[in-house]
Amino acid sequence: MIPKDTIDDIFESARIEEVVGDFVSLKKRGVNLLGNCPFHDEKTPSFTVSPAKGIYKCFGCGEGGNSVNFIMAHEHYTYPEALRYLANKYGIEVEEEEVTPEMVKEQSEKESLYVVANYAEKHFVDNLLDSNEGKAIGLSYFKERGFSDETIGKFKLGYAIDSFEAFTSAATTNGYKQSFLVDSGLTKEKNGKQYDGYRGRVIFPIHNLSGRPIGFGGRTLRTDKKTPKYVNSPQNAIYDKSRVLYGLYTAKKSIIQNDNCFLVEGYTDVISMFQAGVQNVVSSSGTSLTVQQIALISRFTKNITILYDGDAAGIKASFRGIDLILEQGMNVKVVLFPDGEDPDSFAKNSVPGELEDFVKDKAKDFIVFKTDLLYAETEGDPIKKAKLIHDIVDSIALIPDDISRSVYIKECSRLLDIEESLLIIELNKVIRKKQYNSKKQGAVPQNQIPVVPFQQEKSIPKLTDTLDIQERNIIRLLLIYSDKTITFKVGEEDQNVAIVAFLVYKLQQDDIEMTNEWCRIIIQEYNQALEDETILSQQHFLNHHTPEVRALAIDLVTSKYELHDWKSKLIDVETEEHKLKRAVEGALHSYLEKRVRMMWHENQEKLKSVSSNSAAIIDLLKEQKRLTDLKKKLSASMGRIVVN
Ligand code: CTP
Ligand code: MN
Repeated sequence: MIPKDTIDDIFESARIEEVVGDFVSLKKRGVNLLGNCPFHDEKTPSFTVSPAKGIYKCFGCGEGGNSVNFIMAHEHYTYPEALRYLANKYGIEVEEEEVTPEMVKEQSEKESLYVVANYAEKHFVDNLLDSNEGKAIGLSYFKERGFSDETIGKFKLGYAIDSFEAFTSAATTNGYKQSFLVDSGLTKEKNGKQYDGYRGRVIFPIHNLSGRPIGFGGRTLRTDKKTPKYVNSPQNAIYDKSRVLYGLYTAKKSIIQNDNCFLVEGYTDVISMFQAGVQNVVSSSGTSLTVQQIALISRFTKNITILYDGDAAGIKASFRGIDLILEQGMNVKVVLFPDGEDPDSFAKNSVPGELEDFVKDKAKDFIVFKTDLLYAETEGDPIKKAKLIHDIVDSIALIPDDISRSVYIKECSRLLDIEESLLIIELNKVIRKKQYNSKKQGAVPQNQIPVVPFQQEKSIPKLTDTLDIQERNIIRLLLIYSDKTITFKVGEEDQNVAIVAFLVYKLQQDDIEMTNEWCRIIIQEYNQALEDETILSQQHFLNHHTPEVRALAIDLVTSKYELHDWKSKLIDVETEEHKLKRAVEGALHSYLEKRVRMMWHENQEKLKSVSSNSAAIIDLLKEQKRLTDLKKKLSASMGRIVVN
């Protein structure tokens, strides 16, 4: 268990914008920050962070919470894991009160793998810099490749001693369990015998977004064909190669700054480019990009530039992978390196600034690049050309944005020397087919060109809908103005009443229970606090232990509701700040009117269903009378409130 004091300390220190900012690129929007939601796929940012309230909220998918919730949701951490992560980030020491066996078990797998990876990274770095073999073989290899000491340090490059047990026995002596060494791939097992998996290789540690090592690439220094060039980490609880991009941790700042991400093939390309001053570069480590990797990049930028060094066949093979990127609404450019050069060699053989200029000059839009490359191959063959048109149109059809699609159609009509209208007909065919397929799967349809405007049906809010809105509005007033008072004239004197007390007592006085379960909990807690003569802060609900209550509170205090929603739903907010009293009374009154009417009808139904000699009938009749009186009273006071 983490002591309560420490937890408070963590909550106080963790600044939401910093915690989220490690994973999402945020831009300032008024008092809030805005970015692309990491929890769902989106093209326009609707993920809002409020530093003042200490919360985040996505208006697209509804995710919301505080710093701890964010880390739990984003990193798939448990509550204690998230607290430990934040404690670590803010240098807060966590002294465990007691550790139960279940907690150990829950933690152990992932934590142990992290710890093992951390130990291994350090071990390999020490080998490289401090051991004779490491210096003579590993370090001199890196130096020969032109890596500076600074670069070697930045990427935590290392060396594994060329022996069967140097690593495994050192790790075992230091208390690391065999099973975790094997799961991490650092130790291999054969016929019950253990040996070092990376022996005699130079080591490229792979880091996650927060900079922790999670896996390793080990390059052999031998040149014989029998030895595989790289040994890579196996899939395990912390390393999933389809969700990892090499270099993303070192690149992310620069990706945000440049609003672009370079994608290269290998570890050495990333490192050489970084050293040559192009830092916004990552590698998918020799495999084609996965959707998860694209999503990872799209948190930081919508622009990817792919650097190719291969031949035409290799490039064409990659086109399918690029279609995936287009489908995610990202802009793709490509740079083709001169024959026999790759980013690594180019960087090494160039003067400072040359690489940067080269990739800027040579970057070509992907669709244009693809069209050019394939068109050159058709050589006037009409069948090949027809196939090419389909091919290009298929790629264009993947682009989610209507406007971009029509721009590409224009451009390709010029490049391919073919009527624009013909391309549009082809494009619409593909889109219709896709719509048909996606309708079956319930996906959002894409517009055809020209875009046919469609009439959106206006739904009339049902009684229960507006009631729910009104209940939420009252809760919203409680949360936002919990520290404010309103003034009443009592005889000659002005009397200040806390808004919380006013609303809670009014509801209690007329015996009104809210229909929304979570609103009810909030009212109950305010009520209890009033009885205990304590004050509940907004933060109490924003950090509430019941996720539904927390989500509701966050929903209600975040700015979107303050701005449009309430206004569109018949509730006057414009004057709220200034004429708080009227807003509070008005909100309460119109809610009570509706709620009492609803209760009256419900009671009426019950009355109809019970037999006239039942014992319950007396109570029901009494209640009916009470509600009828209340209805009358409310409509009588209506004028007073509105005119006030
Ligand atoms: N790769 C791999 N296993 C291999 C070969 C390649 O995992 N047997 C991955 C590595 O991530 C490597 C990338 O594919 O970085 C690109 O391969 P390659 O260009 O052959 O390696 P480089 O890292 O560029 O090495 P070098 O520059 O020394 O040739
Ligand atoms: Mn290479």
